[in-house]
Amino acid sequence: MITVSKDKTFALTNKYFSYVFRVSPEGILEHLHYGGPLRDPLNVAVHHLRTQREVASNFQGGPYFSLSDTPQEFPSFGTSDYRFPALHGRNSDGNTVFSLHYKKYQIVKEKPRLKKLPSARGGDSETLIVTLEDPLHKLEVELYYTVYEHYGVLVRSAKFKNKGNKELQLQHAYSSALDLPPHEYEILHLHGTWSREFCEERIDVPKGRFIVDSARGTSSAAHSPFIAIVQKGTTEEYGRVHATTLMYSGNFSLSVEKGEFEDVRLLAGINPFNFHWRLKPGKKFCTPEALHVYADKGLRSMSHIWHEFVREKVSPERFRHKPRPTYLNTWEAAYFDVDEEKVLHLADKAKEIGVDMLVLDDGWFEGRRDDTSSLGDWTADKERFPSGIPALAAKVKAKGLKFGIWFEPEMVNPKSQLFEDHPDWILHVPGRKPSLGRNQLTLDLSRPEVIDYLYAQIDDILSCGDIDYVKWDMNRNMTEVGSAGQSKNRQREVSHRYMLGLYDLLRRLTKKYPDVLFENCASGGNRFDLGMLSYMAQNWTSDMCDPIGRLDIINGCSYLFPLDVTAAYIGPSPNHQNGRVSSIKTRFNAGAFCAARGISLNEEDIDEHKSELQSLIMFAKDTSEDFVGGRFDRLIKSKNEVCWQYTSRDEQTVYLAYFHILAAPNLPFRRARMVGLEANADYMLVEDGATYAGDALMQNGMPLPYVATGQVNEKVRYMTKGDFSSHLFVFKKDNN
Ligand code: GLA
Repeated sequence: MITVSKDKTFALTNKYFSYVFRVSPEGILEHLHYGGPLRDPLNVAVHHLRTQREVASNFQGGPYFSLSDTPQEFPSFGTSDYRFPALHGRNSDGNTVFSLHYKKYQIVKEKPRLKKLPSARGGDSETLIVTLEDPLHKLEVELYYTVYEHYGVLVRSAKFKNKGNKELQLQHAYSSALDLPPHEYEILHLHGTWSREFCEERIDVPKGRFIVDSARGTSSAAHSPFIAIVQKGTTEEYGRVHATTLMYSGNFSLSVEKGEFEDVRLLAGINPFNFHWRLKPGKKFCTPEALHVYADKGLRSMSHIWHEFVREKVSPERFRHKPRPTYLNTWEAAYFDVDEEKVLHLADKAKEIGVDMLVLDDGWFEGRRDDTSSLGDWTADKERFPSGIPALAAKVKAKGLKFGIWFEPEMVNPKSQLFEDHPDWILHVPGRKPSLGRNQLTLDLSRPEVIDYLYAQIDDILSCGDIDYVKWDMNRNMTEVGSAGQSKNRQREVSHRYMLGLYDLLRRLTKKYPDVLFENCASGGNRFDLGMLSYMAQNWTSDMCDPIGRLDIINGCSYLFPLDVTAAYIGPSPNHQNGRVSSIKTRFNAGAFCAARGISLNEEDIDEHKSELQSLIMFAKDTSEDFVGGRFDRLIKSKNEVCWQYTSRDEQTVYLAYFHILAAPNLPFRRARMVGLEANADYMLVEDGATYAGDALMQNGMPLPYVATGQVNEKVRYMTKGDFSSHLFVFKKDNN
């Protein structure tokens, strides 16, 4: 997988890609190729022509060589490259010019794990570590590149070591840089906000710099830490794609720069804005991992690579390919109006409709009757839960259900015992009144004593042994980011130190409770990233539970994430977020395309739709094994129609969901060309026993149901008349 030539050309190759760079005659790491696999990658042409460019500055006096137009592996600023650099900072003399030269390399069979940050698992992989040095600043930079035999993901990170006897300051400490050759590219990125996460935007790569980033303390729904640079005109099935994400949950930056010579630089890593790391002599700084995918058959092939990798190498192994329990969550069923009696009653209702788990959401802890108080005080409310959570959990479990509970550990309300006891445990800066978000403040997780407190509080509840699931919420972005636990000149380290503290807490808890299913949530998808997913097997995708509101969210989310890590429930109608009225069936069908399926309905709603819910929950349980480990494909996405296919891992069952948003008369007859089926096999449609040939379903397509507004013909498959209808087909492969 990794080969090195005598003159130091390095090639990482597997069946998905080749990634090639060399040590240039000037001692710089010069990038040569990142694209389809090459038969002889060490002999790839050097595209950079060392020739005269007018007005270019020649690097360190050498002829015809400017870093401004040289594709590099880890660029810095100040020595003839004017673009945004991967490394920037200053030494103790105030010198801000860095220059990295090749020093040595090493290849290791096992992927080294980052100690304080989440990292992708190794196995059947090789890692190339190239060491660069800046002899003046006495800075060493190790670049890590991991290539896997069976996955199309390249994992990169950088480690900075201060080898001198004076402090260095890091400002840009990106994880990776990628200089792509001039070409017609577009950018696909995902943006959004609360309840509208993962909206997709496509733009031409502009001249200048385009950045998606976060300065909110969470990776955020405003800009997901994901970007794809695609060949112009790329579709689901066509086009070359370079996609990148980060295994990081805090302030990140993905910067795309098209320079004067039209090559395109992608930088991925910690956001340099408001970041400064003081690197004392002898100390190291590790960046988060940046993950890169190259795919040459459009967005579908890109997503397949991500999905497989996230499931196999990122998400906790314990839950890999494990069907998720169906559940009843109390949130939209009762909001803060929960007490022991009500929860036990809902547990009975859950049992009646066949649900596996009861989840007690917000509202259970001391004094928490609305969102104005109590975060931080993680003991059961004495009045409403007099026997405490362990006893309640045991009672729920005695009914034959699993039990789950909600926490929002990183937060504190000013109205709470914790805040009274430790007012300086919040993120704050002297002289500024802290801004509130949802009436709450953010705890300072850069402080070890805060981590220890939270660990003890959560451990106290989980140690009863009856908690099967934890929903870990985080409901505000950070402001006034400063810490009373750090010195004045380390305040710009606080955001990153917060993340290190959070990861430490998650590592300790998930290590002690490996069988507890943790679900990540941040007002829905405000911190949905690979960093959190490496500790938690699933993510509450969005608070948007209206099925139509969810379609775009699922679509965008699926570019990167497999359904294995997503959760949804059937919520009330009219929907509480956008007021839309929709059928239980359509609400279920949109939510069915995820691993963890549940409901959040009150007693009256459950009673009213009992038999329908019973059969849907039965379907969810019967298919739960299929919805982990399978293949998801986006088939149709237009303003009015969405169609997805999901193929189980054993390829025996294929699900096809079709959503029709607004009804209209005389619509075209639609069909969906299915993908990835076995051409020679037959597929039986479960609802009527009809058989379809695999090749016909792929080439000719499956006729989709019609939304009738007028007279009907019995022989035609219709969907419910009116808006927001949907249909879920299930095909079984015929193995005879
Ligand atoms: C956030 C979550 C919801 C719910 C509430 C509880 O908004 O996204 O699912 O848990 O918090 O306060």
